Amino acid sequence: MVMGMLQGKRGLVTGAGSGLGRATCLLAAREGARVGILDIDPAAAEETATIVREAGGEAIVCRADVAEASEVEAAVARVVEGFGGLDWASNNAAGGAGDFALTHEIDDRTWSRTIDVCLKGVFHGIKYEVPAMLASGGGSIINISSASQFKGEAFLGAYVAAKGGVDALTKTAAAEYAARGVRVNSVAPGGFETPALSRYFEKFPDFADRTVAQHAMRRVGKPEEVAEAVVWLASERASFVTGACVQCDGGVLVNSHML
Ligand SMILES: NC(=O)c1ccc[n+]([C@@H]2O[C@H](COP(=O)([O-])OP(=O)(O)OC[C@H]3O[C@@H](n4cnc5c(N)ncnc54)[C@H](O)[C@@H]3O)[C@@H](O)[C@H]2O)c1
Repeated sequence: MVMGMLQGKRGLVTGAGSGLGRATCLLAAREGARVGILDIDPAAAEETATIVREAGGEAIVCRADVAEASEVEAAVARVVEGFGGLDWASNNAAGGAGDFALTHEIDDRTWSRTIDVCLKGVFHGIKYEVPAMLASGGGSIINISSASQFKGEAFLGAYVAAKGGVDALTKTAAAEYAARGVRVNSVAPGGFETPALSRYFEKFPDFADRTVAQHAMRRVGKPEEVAEAVVWLASERASFVTGACVQCDGGVLVNSHML
């Protein structure tokens, strides 16, 4: 029998009701993992669970807002109770960025909510996942940042600032837990075909073409392509990788105006 890359590994994905989180759950399940599906939207989380179960996987659904420490704590506890431990987790949820705005026009509420979900949400993940992994004999955490944090992104100040924080926190946590068997890495996506990006495509007529042109590969990514990177980092195949940021961005950071 061919063993999956995550055979028997117990995981948790935040923001798992859509896009990249959903694709990660599905690929992880196909690779033998059991997945905790955390989302603020319970119907979306249930939909992902159905997809995972239809693919033969095992899922636990947790409704939680990652901005609320107690809700993340309860979700991690539920997964640990249901699966008997926690081996990997992807802190993927993002939200709150609101409409495009110049930095001086970002209102306080949008700034705070974006940081609370995109950065503090990752902190909450690490805070409760690490003890569960230490008790399980080690583990792997994959935080989802964004290629945009390497160069800045006009009109997305709060989001990009949060994502820069995610990569800084990833490296710090990697250093802190490496000797105790918990690896912490991030994946920085470029543009991906998910509802998050589609919303912008629908709103701004030439946004899709301009986004594609930003990528050296002249296309945006498919959610499964990020899932491959996350599942690899979660697995033992990445056993000597920690503190890394894996860019999965179709060359958005190497794109040249000369071509
Ligand atoms: N799609 C892209 O082009 C792209 C590019 C760079 C980075 N990313 C990052 O990838 C990750 C996934 O993005 P996506 O495109 O799949 O987004 P998406 O909007 O399709 O899915 C995000 C999911 O997170 C959930 N969510 C939102 N706020 C939450 C909260 N407070 N608590 C729990 N769940 C919450 C939503 O309900 C949704 O199911 C995010 O971290 C995003 O910043 C995406």
